Amino acid sequence: MRSVGHLRAPSLSILIVQTILFLVDCASSCTGSQHEDDFGRAACLKMDQALLLIHNELNLEGFVVSWRSDQCFQCLYQVLIDVNATNDVSTAVDTRHSLTLQLNGTSRKKELCRIHYRFSEYGNYSLWVKLNLSESTNVTCSIVINQNPGYSYLPILIALLMYLAIFCIYALGSFIFRLGAVQNWLCKKMNPIETDRLINSELGSPNRADLCNHEIHVAWNSSSQRLRSLDTFRGLALIIMVFVNYGGGGYWFFKHQSWNGLTLADLVFPWFVFIMGASIYLSLNSMLRKGTTRWKLFWKVLWRSIQLFLIGLFIINENYCRYPLSWNELRIMGVLQRLSLTYLMVSALELLFAKPTLDVPPRSRICFLFQDLISFWPQWGLILFLEAVWLCLTLLLPVPGCPVGYLGPGGIGDFGKFPNCTGGAAGYIDRLVIGEAHIYQHPSSNVIYKTTIPYDPEGILGTINSVVIAFLGLQVGKVLVYYKNQHRQVLVSLFTWGVFMGVVSAILTKCSTNEGFIPVNKNLWSISYVTTLSCFAFFLLVLIYFLVDVKKLWSGAPFYYPGMNSILIYVGHEVFKNYFPFKWKMQNTKSHGEHLTQNLLATSIWVLISYILYRKRIFWKI
Ligand SMILES: *[C@@H]1O[C@H](CO)[C@@H](O)[C@H](O)[C@H]1NC(C)=O
Ligand SMILES: *[C@@H]1O[C@H](CO)[C@@H](O)[C@H](O)[C@H]1NC(C)=O
Repeated sequence: MRSVGHLRAPSLSILIVQTILFLVDCASSCTGSQHEDDFGRAACLKMDQALLLIHNELNLEGFVVSWRSDQCFQCLYQVLIDVNATNDVSTAVDTRHSLTLQLNGTSRKKELCRIHYRFSEYGNYSLWVKLNLSESTNVTCSIVINQNPGYSYLPILIALLMYLAIFCIYALGSFIFRLGAVQNWLCKKMNPIETDRLINSELGSPNRADLCNHEIHVAWNSSSQRLRSLDTFRGLALIIMVFVNYGGGGYWFFKHQSWNGLTLADLVFPWFVFIMGASIYLSLNSMLRKGTTRWKLFWKVLWRSIQLFLIGLFIINENYCRYPLSWNELRIMGVLQRLSLTYLMVSALELLFAKPTLDVPPRSRICFLFQDLISFWPQWGLILFLEAVWLCLTLLLPVPGCPVGYLGPGGIGDFGKFPNCTGGAAGYIDRLVIGEAHIYQHPSSNVIYKTTIPYDPEGILGTINSVVIAFLGLQVGKVLVYYKNQHRQVLVSLFTWGVFMGVVSAILTKCSTNEGFIPVNKNLWSISYVTTLSCFAFFLLVLIYFLVDVKKLWSGAPFYYPGMNSILIYVGHEVFKNYFPFKWKMQNTKSHGEHLTQNLLATSIWVLISYILYRKRIFWKI
């Protein structure tokens, strides 16, 4: 999808990926993914758990302790432990969110007390249940800290400080290097060695002499016609995606939200789609200007989409050798498949109505926003139509056994009334069209809402909204072409779009996580999710565009490099995820610190790889 590139073998792409996947899977000692979300009864604590000792001082009465996470919207209480009349017991409790503990007497079947508390990871707590001395019918519950928990966010702070230190050293280094005297001295020192030059030219890497002659600077300036901000933004999204996919240090806020709401992990995929939209416009527009026919472009787009879809299919159906992958369990949809379909639909939409030359005299460029809406009204009409289809299917499709327009997670949510309704219409359509065995089996909703049925976050219905966000990204491309080199107008346009999307989101969600008309939801790719994330994307792009392309204060490094090679990094990080040095056997699997180290190191290595490939001018295009 890149427009600069040298490694260009489109028809071979699929073959390469498949071969690598096959070799890798056969060689690797297939480490299965563990799900550590069950609640252990033992005193042996897992990550995100604390120890709770329960002391029963009631006179010969047992009780049942139930719990509910605050994150769980309208959930049933779940039994934590049965405490009989005589023994003190211990149990593990969740520390990711604050909890409500509810105590119900076993004999009198009534609620004894209820307590709201935020436990800290690996803490040691006691719950004292006593009779109230003044009123003998009343029970008091209190929580006491026996042993202070460790500070589990410390690794994040340390990691941030380390990256900051690296940045400072780098900044200082490049400052010193830029000083003219130092630069000349360095060049004289390094340059005249003939062997060095020979070796370098043998390996095909740039000559050292380039550094002295400032050719690199010249090259940079001449290539600065190409916007660096888009690649930087794409790289940023990609790198967060890699970090999150590698586990995000085991922190819940670096993993996907269970149902409604946003975490860091939920931000990046739509941003990626958004930037893809902008790139689609820029590349189609430039090719149409060069005189390529629409049909030719369409075939090209179609062929790329098919490749992307097939590569995605290979990647998500891994482990060829652990057990023979059966056709009955082949997963169909996934991240690259979603990208592929979105790419195809948005490109087709653009090709259908494209006006390659937007040659408007500069003076009459008053308000692009309205002009865009007017001159491209058929495109907007189709997008609104698609959105109407999404709304109608989501809100009006009758799903057997579920309420019409259900948007909840099922499981223990909604007081356990609709356990098998996860995702409402979206889930139903996928199960009907693709089949239960061919969709994602471990949706994030099973973490908190204890859902049991499969649900695919990259399902069919959500694709409509991913087309919408790609189309919003397309507007960025239009703005950039329309206001070529008029930075102020570009910034104002993007900012206006951001504000508009923010207002739409605020209305749709009523500024709340769960109670809006349509909640922000990554699993459903709800329309409010798309408007909210595109709002963030417009604002972030304004910032990056300003820093990178307008003021040239920041080169976009290091995000620029992975952004230039996004397909390769995405495929690579998925394929090699179980390999050293991206993964190794940890000393202490319960420590966030070690998980974070592993995940950050793996992510940094991919940034480094993308930098090396960039220096060698190797870009994987499909
Ligand atoms: C938790 O604290 C209690 C009371 O101080 C102590 O008896 C128990 O051994 C501690 N448990 C652990 C696992 O540290
Ligand atoms: C939900 O599905 C499970 C297994 O598929 C089944 O055992 C259960 O009865 C279903 N519940 C309802 C309310 O349909």
